[in-house]
Amino acid sequence: MKQEKIYLKDYIAPAFAVESVNLDFILNEDFCRVIAKSKFKTLKAGVPLHLNGEELKLVSVKINDKALTAADYQLTDEEMIIANVPSEFTLEIETQLEPQNNTSLEGLYKSNGIFCTQCEAQGFRKITWFMDRPDVMTSYTVTIEADKAKYPVLLSNGDRIKVEDIGNGRHKAYWRDPHKKPCYLFALVAGDLGVIRDTFTTSGGRKVNLEVYAAHGKQERCWHAMESLQKSMKWDEEVFGREYDLNEYMIVAIDDFNAGAMENKGLNIFNSRLVLADSNSATDADFHAIESVVAHEYFHNWTGNRVTLRDWFQLSLKEGLTVFRDQEFSADMTDRGVQRIEDVDSLRAGQFAEDAGPNAHPVRPESCMAVDNFFTMTIYEKGSELIRMMQTIVGRKGFRKGMDEYFRRHDGQAVTTEDFAAAISEPNGKDFTQFKRWYNQSGTPVVAIQERFDDKAGEYHLTLEQSCPPTPNQPKKDPFHIPLMMGLLDKSGKELNLNCEKIEKNSDGQNVIELKAQKETYVFKGLKERPVLSILREFSAPVNLNWEASEEDLYFLMEKDTDSFNRREMAQKLALRVMSDLIKQHGQGKELKVDQRFLKAMTTVMSDQNMDAAFKAKMLQLPSLAILAQMEPVLQPVAFDKARQTIRKEIARGNKEALLATYHKYHNVEPKSRDTKIFGQRLLKNQALHYLAELNDPAIFDIVNKQYWEAQNMTDRMTALMILADSESTHREKVLADFHDNWKNDSVVINKWFTVQALAHRPHILDEIKALTKNPTFNINNPNNVYSLLRAFTTNIVSFNNEKSYEFIADKIIEIDPKNPQVAARLCSAFNFVGKLEPQLKELAMKQIKRMVDVPGLSKNSRELLQSALQ
Ligand code: ARG
Ligand code: ZN
Repeated sequence: MKQEKIYLKDYIAPAFAVESVNLDFILNEDFCRVIAKSKFKTLKAGVPLHLNGEELKLVSVKINDKALTAADYQLTDEEMIIANVPSEFTLEIETQLEPQNNTSLEGLYKSNGIFCTQCEAQGFRKITWFMDRPDVMTSYTVTIEADKAKYPVLLSNGDRIKVEDIGNGRHKAYWRDPHKKPCYLFALVAGDLGVIRDTFTTSGGRKVNLEVYAAHGKQERCWHAMESLQKSMKWDEEVFGREYDLNEYMIVAIDDFNAGAMENKGLNIFNSRLVLADSNSATDADFHAIESVVAHEYFHNWTGNRVTLRDWFQLSLKEGLTVFRDQEFSADMTDRGVQRIEDVDSLRAGQFAEDAGPNAHPVRPESCMAVDNFFTMTIYEKGSELIRMMQTIVGRKGFRKGMDEYFRRHDGQAVTTEDFAAAISEPNGKDFTQFKRWYNQSGTPVVAIQERFDDKAGEYHLTLEQSCPPTPNQPKKDPFHIPLMMGLLDKSGKELNLNCEKIEKNSDGQNVIELKAQKETYVFKGLKERPVLSILREFSAPVNLNWEASEEDLYFLMEKDTDSFNRREMAQKLALRVMSDLIKQHGQGKELKVDQRFLKAMTTVMSDQNMDAAFKAKMLQLPSLAILAQMEPVLQPVAFDKARQTIRKEIARGNKEALLATYHKYHNVEPKSRDTKIFGQRLLKNQALHYLAELNDPAIFDIVNKQYWEAQNMTDRMTALMILADSESTHREKVLADFHDNWKNDSVVINKWFTVQALAHRPHILDEIKALTKNPTFNINNPNNVYSLLRAFTTNIVSFNNEKSYEFIADKIIEIDPKNPQVAARLCSAFNFVGKLEPQLKELAMKQIKRMVDVPGLSKNSRELLQSALQ
């Protein structure tokens, strides 16, 4: 019986070191050979050598050039165990693979005729038997041999040594990576690819060759990725003092890829949707995503590769930290305030939901069935918030000092989140003992706020009380160490000086409350009048506030707060109150009446001539249904949607002229520009168009239709397509058909066409989705197709929550699972909301979950995620 679960507490340091490994790849059409020659050194005598290997065909195994016989080793489904080995030895293993039949897209596989690899987390064991664990770091040399005409480009990590012809129309490339690395960072690419080239000279004077590869004909769409790479390299030098350490940096775009991208040393492999972009084919959001993911993978070179993980439970050590770094980079490249708003929106919509659902887990988990299930928003986005809180506590300068210390201590090592926390806290003289609970305890904490003003004494009393809802296996939590950035405003909106013993300014001069007790009162003295509290500025901690602030104060802050994040936060808070009220009205069968005061505030925002365009767009944006779903005890798809639509309609009705004026003012202003300011204006004018479309006015749909046909960039075209796809307009069918005709052969862009249809609110949408899966452009083996159609559909709260849709998605999970467990597991998140469903829907969802769990041979990836929903 295989062990179902692995535990952090079972960690044991490796009994062997691998000093070096040489990999020879012989690539053919029907099968490939891999010869792995490793130099081993015994660290703990008397321990058998355990090597991981899955779905491999063994050709031969030798120790010190002597072939082993079947009696010398033991093979299981997952391991090769060699009981007796010398203290130092060379192990040579030859395996045979069929990459062309590898549908899991991990290990060595083929995508559109290109050989490529994905080894994180545990794909290397599908290439050869090895100590497939991140704390085994070694030096790699690699040769790749293949047909020269079919595979002119042969890539691996590190430095290109040479390429030579070896006869028979075949050639062979030699690579050597001078840096030790764990095997999850190994990569290989062989294929016929186009390339663009440029260079970057590091601050230390190293000239680095930069190459971005993509399918022939697509390479001209790689320039944005190239520029993003150059910006990232420069930024990491300036902000963190980190220089690149190889002579080559390569990015390869691949169409079939389970995740977004992979930071393999010197040879990043990317999902092509996160590389390819030009203004004709990519939206502003795509450009932004590409810039941030290119940066993310580049930043891993130091946070992940040079300093790596001791074990997979530490995944957030590199992912949380690297997300934090890419968010900071994006903030510097665009608009810091707007970037923070976007990051928090996605944290709330995704991670808070995960933390409230059946698969909630700590940032540093303690057990798992499938390591690949760790690539979650909790590990990534909440992990990033933990790093951000550390920075808030010690201040930016202190944080930089800590980061320098982290690299000084741990360069070249495989370490833990404990090591990271120590490197940040110790040089700053801070105690993170309590802070580290953030790593162990799951769930989103709640901070309840009580305010009292004593006008005789001139004192303002602020009482904060923290709690955290129970999560799987964690009924009770200990208090967290929560940094709350705050300020007090006077009646005119001016910041007041804070006179409170318990508050210190951090090294950036920000007022930060460090809430450590379960309950604490803060007294602010010397106040003439009741101040207005602004708290959790910049969203300084990933918590929910339980704050019954008066409407008066909320509207005041929305207008006057000096913290732009909180201005927008108050607008969201007010919108949620209004939505909640409408949901109640709906439940009582009343005609929905939107609060006039809120509408007036929106009109004030709309007509503010001084407000930055992107920020205005964020102010006018209503919380998504996913965010609403977390505030409401029960998921009521129809009522939620009605509430949101009603407010949008009212806003559109009350501001029609202003919306039209905004639209015309910014429409087609530098339509090809990617300047941040122009981005913002385009965002705002397209949002205006979205609002106007709520009026269901044929004249407006004509404007939308015109925008579609005359669009000079993909942002405008997609906005129009999205609006029409979600309408009953007469233009709908024509624009959808046109988009399909134009992009049906473009593996990246066609996904947008799937997504707009998957997200539409239409009565018979399930039939349409089913029909789309039969469209020749849809391939269920391609992860992007699955994500953009099926997964997008599962996030369509209004259309997805019914018996037939649950059944359909369960069928698809069952169909995909045996071919690609990682993709199937990602689709399982569709059922994360079960706890919030009304009883009838819940029963229907549970029925499907049970049906899936009962499928014999269901992957442990899917099983782990679904089983928890049954408990
Ligand atoms: N390390 C990669 C990144 O953050 C993601 C790899 C995803 N792997 C997976 N098994 N889902 O950029
Ligand atoms: Zn990452």
